[in-house]
Amino acid sequence: MQYVRLGQTGLQVSRICLGMMTYGTPKWRPWVLDETASRPLVKHAMDLGINFFDTADMYSAGESEVLTGKFIKAYGKREEVVVATKVYFPVELEFKGGATDTKPMNRPNMEGLSRKRIFHAVDASLKRLGTDYIDLYQIHRMDTQTPIEETMEALHDVVKAGKVRYLGASSMWAWQFAKAQQVAKERGWTRFVSMQNHYNLAYREEEREMLPLCRDQGVAVIPWSPLARGFLAGNRQSSDKDATSASDSAAKAAAARSSATTERAKTDNIAQGYYYRDSDFRVVAELSALAAEKGVSNATLAYAWLLHKGVTAPVVGASKLPQLDQAVAALDVALSAAELVRLEAAYEPHPVLGHS
Ligand SMILES: NC(=O)c1ccc[n+]([C@@H]2O[C@H](COP(=O)([O-])OP(=O)(O)OC[C@H]3O[C@@H](n4cnc5c(N)ncnc54)[C@H](OP(=O)(O)O)[C@@H]3O)[C@@H](O)[C@H]2O)c1
Repeated sequence: MQYVRLGQTGLQVSRICLGMMTYGTPKWRPWVLDETASRPLVKHAMDLGINFFDTADMYSAGESEVLTGKFIKAYGKREEVVVATKVYFPVELEFKGGATDTKPMNRPNMEGLSRKRIFHAVDASLKRLGTDYIDLYQIHRMDTQTPIEETMEALHDVVKAGKVRYLGASSMWAWQFAKAQQVAKERGWTRFVSMQNHYNLAYREEEREMLPLCRDQGVAVIPWSPLARGFLAGNRQSSDKDATSASDSAAKAAAARSSATTERAKTDNIAQGYYYRDSDFRVVAELSALAAEKGVSNATLAYAWLLHKGVTAPVVGASKLPQLDQAVAALDVALSAAELVRLEAAYEPHPVLGHS
């Protein structure tokens, strides 16, 4: 395993971060694995040298944090492992998140980044994780209804209280991120050290503003959904989308007919909303062709591409053991400038996806 410093901090993280959204309860999303199915995957990740784990309070309504804490205790050393979690969204099984579920909660103070919410949320996460500090506490989204000064001071205070070691942010506009950093700098508060954004071969809009900003400021980039939620693996097809795009009997019949090979391919309607355009399938075709030529899997090549684009550590999702080996294999893949151009050629710009 390779380890790098997280941005300009002294913190050492593996170049592959394991995303814990896949582990929790299928009551939240049907493709999520329960404790028994998750355990060997997280153990294998640790055996491979992965020391960086990313969860969020909202994943499986807290169950992902519970499993993260349990598995780290069982298979790792707390002082060696880097635990990242997030705050912003409501923590409720009924709240699924993503572009399909943007309804505001109708109960007060159960989401967002007010001082009250952050203080409550950090204690709830610590309890679920079974630890007395979080290594990287990330704001899952920007809360435009709370003054940024209130949010940044509350985040600084949880650092100073010893509950959090470093702060990170996730998908938002680059100007919002720059503004938050500036407010913290002016007041002498803790700044964000990392950006967890939506970036992969099928979604490259972050190359316009956010990635140059992070590069300039020495902020670590740890992109989410590096395989476009599995879309880049090469086993997704447009008929998967027909099978899950509606909830009526026609959709159920289509789901029964679907030849999708995994539960996630069948049921991840967020993926089907984000990708699955003709030009996205052309990106996959080129990725598959080059992967075959190089004798690696699509997944390995898609991660290798990210590692060549200045990314600190992709936050990978894995539902099967060999998927972890294929992620780690990316560290040994060298790509020429011509190969990078080839992988990028079919891309067509997307509307901004993943800010809500
Ligand atoms: N900050 C945010 O807003 C945000 C948003 C989304 C995710 N995240 C974080 O990012 C992490 C990763 O997200 P993600 O799960 O969407 O990531 P992803 O890596 O894009 O997709 C993971 C899926 O790809 C498939 N896959 C993985 N390796 C494969 C391989 N070698 N061959 C074939 N298929 C493979 C698996 O699907 P199958 O089960 O179908 O095989 C797996 O569930 C999450 O766990 C979470 O920590 C953060």
